[in-house]
Amino acid sequence: MQLSYERIPTLIYANSDDASLSVAKEIATLIRQKQQEGKSAILGLATGSSPKKVYVELIRMHKKEGLSFNNVITFNLDEYYPMQPDALQSYIRFMKEHLFDHVDIPPDHYHVPDGTLSLEQVRDYCMEYERRIDSYDGLDFQLLGIGRNGHIGFNEPGSHENSRTRLMTLDQTTRVDAAMDFGGLSKVPRRAITMGVQQIMKAKRVVLIAWGEHKADIIYQAVQGPVTEMVPASYLQGHHNVHVVIDESAAAQLTRRKAPWLIDDIEWTQPMIKKAVTNLSLSIGKPILKLTNKDYNDYGLSDLLAQQGQAYDMNIQVFNWLQHTITGWPGGKPNADDTLRPERAHPVKKRSLIFSPHPDDDIISMGGTFQRLVDQGHEVHVAYQTSGNIAVADDEALRFADFVVEFNEKFDITSAEADKIFKNAARFLRTKKDSEKDTEAVRHIKGLIRKSEAKATCRFVGIPSEQIHFLNMPFYETGVVQKKNLAEKDYEVIADLIEKIKPHQIYAAGDLADPHGTHKVCLDAIMEAVRRLKNKDFMKDCWMWLYKGAWAEWDIDQIEMAVPMSPDQVMKKRLGIFKHQSQKDGVVFQGADAREFWQRAEDRNRNTADLYNKLGLSEYDAMEAFVRWKF
Ligand code: F6R
Repeated sequence: MQLSYERIPTLIYANSDDASLSVAKEIATLIRQKQQEGKSAILGLATGSSPKKVYVELIRMHKKEGLSFNNVITFNLDEYYPMQPDALQSYIRFMKEHLFDHVDIPPDHYHVPDGTLSLEQVRDYCMEYERRIDSYDGLDFQLLGIGRNGHIGFNEPGSHENSRTRLMTLDQTTRVDAAMDFGGLSKVPRRAITMGVQQIMKAKRVVLIAWGEHKADIIYQAVQGPVTEMVPASYLQGHHNVHVVIDESAAAQLTRRKAPWLIDDIEWTQPMIKKAVTNLSLSIGKPILKLTNKDYNDYGLSDLLAQQGQAYDMNIQVFNWLQHTITGWPGGKPNADDTLRPERAHPVKKRSLIFSPHPDDDIISMGGTFQRLVDQGHEVHVAYQTSGNIAVADDEALRFADFVVEFNEKFDITSAEADKIFKNAARFLRTKKDSEKDTEAVRHIKGLIRKSEAKATCRFVGIPSEQIHFLNMPFYETGVVQKKNLAEKDYEVIADLIEKIKPHQIYAAGDLADPHGTHKVCLDAIMEAVRRLKNKDFMKDCWMWLYKGAWAEWDIDQIEMAVPMSPDQVMKKRLGIFKHQSQKDGVVFQGADAREFWQRAEDRNRNTADLYNKLGLSEYDAMEAFVRWKF
């Protein structure tokens, strides 16, 4: 395949697991080869979510395959400044927990920049850090992640190609992305010590890894964009031995995925035709039915035209495909011909099971559809997968703890035990230190707040309490951002519920934006449960629809069911979202987007309606979108 658009050799793997394995294998091969030569392997290492699986695999190879790290010398890219080594967010702690403590690397072989130095010491320290690397004749292998702003290490936009190891002021995007780990933006350090671009570029081999949709834009810029200091990763275009290793989601914006017909001969399947024609229509700003043969040719689609006939016929075909995705009957339209509808007409009354990873995803991401399903007489169940307790602010929990204490006093409810629990919780919250982990009682209070909000939404939409299920999946209950791996109990709660309800429809958050995020883990658990159940009779009647979380929407050509909303329905959904008061007016994990959840939801639903309209279909106020997952 000719990939002239890509200026850095790029390997795309089906998922981040396979990709991580291949990177770990390369590192292991290097370590072994150096061992045979009686030399040290000098590795440059990164922290963050991206390399975690690579380290897991290296540890596995150490334990199971006898891979020794005795000859390994490592230099990490960066450390926050100031930072104590035992702080939860320190990179030295990260490295010990994710790699060093589990392999036989001698403690004096690893180096992570020191975040405890005084300002006066930093400059000399940085020069010494580089001198040390140079004394080993540079790095044999440098592992890199990439920030959403294109940083490598903490070389933020604006960093020069010749930049040295130094103290760097962190970019706003970087701080926002770190806010989760620190329990709020204000607690994220403003500076960090980072290896400079120059040192990275000197490495004999560089591998940059990235997973998930939220990296797709920046990967496109780094790999296909111009070399610019505004995207420091783009400097790698000038490296002589570099690979970008990514998963399918992070590859989504590359031309070979976005417009593969520009790169090679392709097979014109229905999804590909849909993709090409919608792209063409939106890029040149012409509704589908107005596209001409010349438009197709000018846009690099002459091959499609030659194979499929005239623009006129193709336009109608694609227009109809899109038209048939639109339905006001997400549970199927009773007594109607359903041949061209997204859902089946029968059974008329369906059991629909909505999985909501956090207690508000149901209403935020598919509130309009949820309401329609209820209004159209289906038996709708909602399963809240996690408690969402870490996203409740301390003062919110304190308010509720105070309320209970006062309530008990007022009505002479004398349970010494209850009194003690709430008074202790209130005391803890009043004196809690930054990023201190909540006590179990406080976590429960926070979980209860979110539970009562979810119940309020369900009452508002109109489903009875026996159709509301709180699964409290165990993987989530760590009290910190870092969650446990999925375990048997997580799969069981999901599988048991599906088996009990025997749904005709399952709705799930198909959010792949962050492969380590809660949504993806929740989806993995559902998929595993469905896999286990799929041979049961009732599953033959079960269809699964994926909605997206608050952050993104399906590409227009991927959508298989689009449920329109009127202005009144949009307003009703907004009121449903308002029930989640703990998530309003400045949330714990705001992310880069300053809009509130109801605003994000409305903007996104309006945008989908707008895209349909631009393609020349009817004009709706807003639309919710779904993709069917066939198991
Ligand atoms: C980490 C580092 C950073 C990260 C980047 C991506 O040592 O230097 O450049 O690699 O911010 O972070 P994740 O992998 O968490 O998305």
